[in-house]
Amino acid sequence: MWQLENIFEKEISRPTIFEDRNVLSPHYIPDHLPYREKEITRVMKQIAPALSQKRPNNLFIYGKTGVGKTAVVKHVLEKLEETKEKYQASVGSIYLNCRVHNTRYQVLLKLAQHAAPEESFLGLSSTHLYERFLEYVGKGVVFIVVLDEIDKVKDLDELTYSLTRANDGLAKGHVGLIGISNSINFKEKLDPRSKSTLCQDEIVFAPYNADQLSAILKERAARGFKKGYVTDGAIHLASAYAAQESGDARYALRLLLKAGELADSKGKPVAEEYVKRARAAVEEDIVIELINTLPEHQSIVLYAIANLAEKGSKYQRLTENGEHVLFSGEAYEGYESLCRSWRINARSARWFREYLNELEMMGLITTMISGPGIRGNTRLIRLAFPPEKVKAAVEKRFA
Ligand SMILES: Nc1ncnc2c1ncn2[C@@H]1O[C@H](COP(=O)(O)OP(=O)(O)O)[C@@H](O)[C@H]1O
Ligand SMILES: [Mg+2]
Repeated sequence: MWQLENIFEKEISRPTIFEDRNVLSPHYIPDHLPYREKEITRVMKQIAPALSQKRPNNLFIYGKTGVGKTAVVKHVLEKLEETKEKYQASVGSIYLNCRVHNTRYQVLLKLAQHAAPEESFLGLSSTHLYERFLEYVGKGVVFIVVLDEIDKVKDLDELTYSLTRANDGLAKGHVGLIGISNSINFKEKLDPRSKSTLCQDEIVFAPYNADQLSAILKERAARGFKKGYVTDGAIHLASAYAAQESGDARYALRLLLKAGELADSKGKPVAEEYVKRARAAVEEDIVIELINTLPEHQSIVLYAIANLAEKGSKYQRLTENGEHVLFSGEAYEGYESLCRSWRINARSARWFREYLNELEMMGLITTMISGPGIRGNTRLIRLAFPPEKVKAAVEKRFA
């Protein structure tokens, strides 16, 4: 009889072109981070005072997505943990991704849990959490708090205020903050007091160029694939694509991994044709992932924009080179009419502008202010992905 177990056996014993697939995952942090020596040195210098029980300056790190910000900071924290033993320094650190911990309360909860891992903080107020954390730091600990994707914290002004106040209230011990953001403009949106607190020092991470991406991929590929199973052509093409897409190493790795999976299913070495096919697949995955994280109104706004981009703008003749550039006014009308037909209460134009900002920050749209001449100074919108893909992803979500 035909045995299902055979499928498992066959899959397990099937030869694969991967040596260690995990090395190619975007979550993997290599020991060696080429082209980031300068940045690593700067972050280390910044927090070095902690090792002699002094307060480090707060640091704000920004740069586009996939340029190694998270990898560099995690790498430095590891080094800090290793070194503190040697100097017997009373130093602590925590890394938090604010996409997950996105309120002052949740961040304080993690800090309190770090301070007292054995205690339960269930249902306790943020004041209590804060006091518990201060009690721990007040014993003379220099504590480094890394807030990655800090722009996701909803009440960031309150959080930075609390953490700064910690320093003022402590006779012994200090808190040092490292904020990381993928958004270049985020700093400008901060309240002036938070800005001066968070940005005592700052480092900008530049995008990688195609050669740098090639070298990064080569190192990963050498460990991720069996010898001889990835061609130089494939590496160069993946790097060139990623360099076009804003110098993003995460994207380059995703391309390489996807191309690897496609090649693996055929038992062939990774060549350029697989990278080309991977590009379409990865782009689709990215759109779907982004859209899956969108709150309801943002996805309706996006759907309205995709609708218009598909049909073409009423004002198409006013746009240069026949590109799908839309006016925010017509996008708002489209959003209102979708809300009506889906029986959802539409939000005001002020909220709508905020949704546009968020969609832009996620890279789903780009916006620009039209020059004079086109109906005054109106905001123009361009969808970053093919409208039919965007619509399909939103529909799937609401299905
Ligand atoms: N210089 C580098 N060398 C090797 N891998 C890198 C380098 N920079 C980034 N990466 C890899 O690219 C991916 C994205 O990096 P990450 O630090 O998460 O970017 P960011 O935080 O800036 O968005 C990770 O898998 C990381 O290991
Ligand atoms: Mg990151």
